[in-house]
Amino acid sequence: MPKLPVPDVLLRTLSRQLGGPSGALGVVVARMLNKGNRPTITAAAGALELTGSEEVADIGFGGGLGLELLLDATRDGGRVHGVDPSPDMLTRARKAHHEEVAAGRLALHEAGMEALPIADGALDGWISLNTVYFVEDLSPALAELRRVLASAGRGVLGVADPDWMAQRAFTKHNFTLRPVPDVVAALTATGFSVERRTMEGSPPFNLLVCRPVPA
Ligand SMILES: C[S@@+](CC[C@H](N)C(=O)[O-])C[C@H]1O[C@@H](n2cnc3c(N)ncnc32)[C@H](O)[C@@H]1O
Repeated sequence: MPKLPVPDVLLRTLSRQLGGPSGALGVVVARMLNKGNRPTITAAAGALELTGSEEVADIGFGGGLGLELLLDATRDGGRVHGVDPSPDMLTRARKAHHEEVAAGRLALHEAGMEALPIADGALDGWISLNTVYFVEDLSPALAELRRVLASAGRGVLGVADPDWMAQRAFTKHNFTLRPVPDVVAALTATGFSVERRTMEGSPPFNLLVCRPVPA
């Protein structure tokens, strides 16, 4: 039987949800993100090589699996920031982690990576996966990621293979797909040295491990 095209309205809805999950459908999308992205989020959090007392962030945490992993990895007096522009994802994270929020172990911020409400050099590490597709002007956003990182800190930016993504109809709207070398070049221009690690899978995935280059 020939494959029927997915109506454009559904594709728009899905891509809008991926860029900012909200409402009843946002609950489904959040669960889907946590399940589907578990291997890459786990690898990104692991790449920070945390010892337990660091201050770290998940920027664009979506379903919140990254927050869980970072809270686990910073049990010895560390602190976690969760940043996301979606009010519903903030509400979800606040409910899931009300004790950690009350104890000051988790700070939640409704913001995008273009303007992080975090002090200069405050973070020992950050992860940010599947977020830059929704950032139009990359350079100022990357400058923010650089600004908040301590000189000995490390960030992990996660991006799916853009060719794989371009073949998915839902990326037709709302997504900006960039060749990985372009993202690496933009990170380098911002003042990071970048180590590219690739992961097999569906989608094939890139973890760009970023270390600040001393000014
Ligand atoms: C596709 S989801 C990815 C969530 C999670 N990082 C993961 O990999 O499963 C994209 C997330 O990025 C958030 N987001 C959208 N624009 C953003 C921006 N400018 N800065 C930071 N996060 C953003 C969305 O609200 C959403 O929660």
